[in-house]
Amino acid sequence: MWTQWCAGGRQTVFLLVQVLVLKFTCCGRPNILFIVLDDFRPIMRSYGNQLIIAPNMDNLARNSVVFNRAYTQQALCGPSRTSFLTSRRPDTTKLWDVHYYWRKSAGNYTTLPQYFKEHGYHTESFGKIFHPGIVSGKTTDYPYSWSVPPYLPSTQQYKMKKVCPGARGKLQMNVVCPVNVSTQPEHTLPDIQSTQHAVQFIEKLSKESQPFFLALGYHKPHIPFKFPQEYLKLYPLDEIKLAKFHTKPRGLPSVAWNPWTDLRERDDVKSLNVSFPFGPIPEHFQKLMIQSYYASVSYVDNLLGEVFAALEKKGMSGNTITLLTGDHGWALGENQEWSKFSNFEVTTRVPLLVSVPGLTGKPLSGTRKYSSSDKDWPDRSMVQDNQYKITNGLVELVDIFPSLVELAGLPILKTCPQTSFNITICTEGCSFVPLIKNATSPHTVIKNWKSAVFSQYPRPSLQPETDSDQPRAVDSRVMGYSIRTDSHRYTEWIQFYPNNFTVNWNNVYARELYSQVTDSEDHHNLASDPRYLDIVHKLAVKLRQGWRAALPLLNQT
Ligand SMILES: *[C@@H]1O[C@H](CO)[C@@H](O)[C@H](O)[C@H]1NC(C)=O
Ligand SMILES: *[C@@H]1O[C@H](CO)[C@@H](O)[C@H](O)[C@H]1NC(C)=O
Ligand SMILES: *[C@@H]1O[C@H](CO)[C@@H](O)[C@H](O)[C@H]1NC(C)=O
Ligand SMILES: *[C@@H]1O[C@H](CO)[C@@H](O)[C@H](O)[C@H]1NC(C)=O
Ligand SMILES: *[C@@H]1O[C@H](CO)[C@@H](O)[C@H](O)[C@H]1NC(C)=O
Ligand SMILES: *[C@@H]1O[C@H](CO)[C@@H](O)[C@H](O)[C@H]1NC(C)=O
Repeated sequence: MWTQWCAGGRQTVFLLVQVLVLKFTCCGRPNILFIVLDDFRPIMRSYGNQLIIAPNMDNLARNSVVFNRAYTQQALCGPSRTSFLTSRRPDTTKLWDVHYYWRKSAGNYTTLPQYFKEHGYHTESFGKIFHPGIVSGKTTDYPYSWSVPPYLPSTQQYKMKKVCPGARGKLQMNVVCPVNVSTQPEHTLPDIQSTQHAVQFIEKLSKESQPFFLALGYHKPHIPFKFPQEYLKLYPLDEIKLAKFHTKPRGLPSVAWNPWTDLRERDDVKSLNVSFPFGPIPEHFQKLMIQSYYASVSYVDNLLGEVFAALEKKGMSGNTITLLTGDHGWALGENQEWSKFSNFEVTTRVPLLVSVPGLTGKPLSGTRKYSSSDKDWPDRSMVQDNQYKITNGLVELVDIFPSLVELAGLPILKTCPQTSFNITICTEGCSFVPLIKNATSPHTVIKNWKSAVFSQYPRPSLQPETDSDQPRAVDSRVMGYSIRTDSHRYTEWIQFYPNNFTVNWNNVYARELYSQVTDSEDHHNLASDPRYLDIVHKLAVKLRQGWRAALPLLNQT
């Protein structure tokens, strides 16, 4: 008999929890280091990209399970973060834009750090974890989620300021913004500040401290690509390649298009006179953006080295679970698209590394910060590609909350019922701990894992407009629901009623179908090809059945 793993079949999972908890009984509960990069697509070596220099993330990946198919629930910071921090999907947090606080607008849902706090942890946040402002109640959800007020770097206030060197020494508000840090306001940058504060936190810990949940949220590689200029030399411009398909595909419905307005409002892109809504951006500038995105990742990687080294120095690597992810992906010119704001594979797919000492590898060691003097930089040939423990099981960011809870041995979460607005603690995800076991132990074999994962994105209209990227829910007329199976991505754009925030599944404006076996760039829309009628029909049914029907099955014989 097959039952749903998450909703019912709990026995095996309980056994697992006991095994895991035992590993930590010498030192009490494990600490959690929870790392989120902003707008971060999976481009590290552990995801098969030989170009990126990120030795500290590579080292983490070698001692982690690498989730090769992890997806956000909506490719926009606020909705994605509120979703994964509460383990509810956007339709349950009622947040598809950046204008509401879920506790007031949807339900008083308990968050991931709050749950740890309520179970004896010291929880502290550095940088961007919650989307700041209204979305987290103007307090970054303090005091509910955090033991002390979150640290927000002071220099983030210059995000929309003219601080980037432009032509003839003029300062501009640019997308591409390599800087001499000592000339910047306060002589520093946001992620450097967050790192320093996180390291200070670690240095102050004592052996008698409560277990901690340390959340570290980096602002890069989000635009502006503002990073110390010396990172540019890691990526010579003449070695930068454009996306494989960097032109707009003919079969793409206009409603799917995000016109990357966040880029257009910045001085450097503005001066290119790129036509609205489709562009394209001149190839030389495309390369500059790709180069700066890569350099931003290396910059964050180097900062991460400081944090890992501080933990190691404290002797705490051995009982700290580290999870690294991004809130959503970012298009780097694929199909002439940039930024997020869409339902494509490149914008919904995220990196996810989970390191559990003793289970997934050694505690982190040998991590370091590289100095800016030339000869110290790691070059690509230096980095060994060890065997990564990769899982292809489909997972979603809503799965993080129940998974960390299970790994730490806290009371596991129940699956949310159909309507859960008045229930503070439940999950619309599913613990991925069985996948960690499957990837690390030859004795566990998981079959019938999640059969699909789900993302969504609203639009104000069928044709791209200036607010197509970030429409307010009250101005939205269309909702794009997207499903990703082992083999396909299928998206339907359907009618959305802004008066009551519901949808009409009978009014379908457009469909997209992409083979993920042959076309992970989503370049060839097969939805109207008669040869794929059958698969379109099957996926349309599966999309309407929703995430519950796609949960893993457990064989209970
Ligand atoms: C929401 O829940 C928290 C505890 O999780 C509680 O302190 C607070 O009073 C609740 N707020 C409302 C409006 O119910
Ligand atoms: C960075 O700016 C400082 C202060 O203006 C200057 O002394 C230094 O030479 C600059 N460094 C580089 C590499 O341009
Ligand atoms: C953009 O348009 C302005 C005003 O029409 C013009 O001065 C400028 O040269 C144009 N720039 C490019 C890169 O075409
Ligand atoms: C579990 O591990 C086996 C052996 O490595 C692999 O073939 C299988 O795909 C894995 N299952 C999942 C769901 O990851
Ligand atoms: C939530 O509301 C439903 C009906 O609105 C009710 O049946 C249920 O008991 C409530 N649950 C809680 C935990 O208050
Ligand atoms: C939402 O509003 C639309 C338009 O007024 C209406 O047709 C629909 O029935 C409403 N749906 C619900 C669930 O109230």
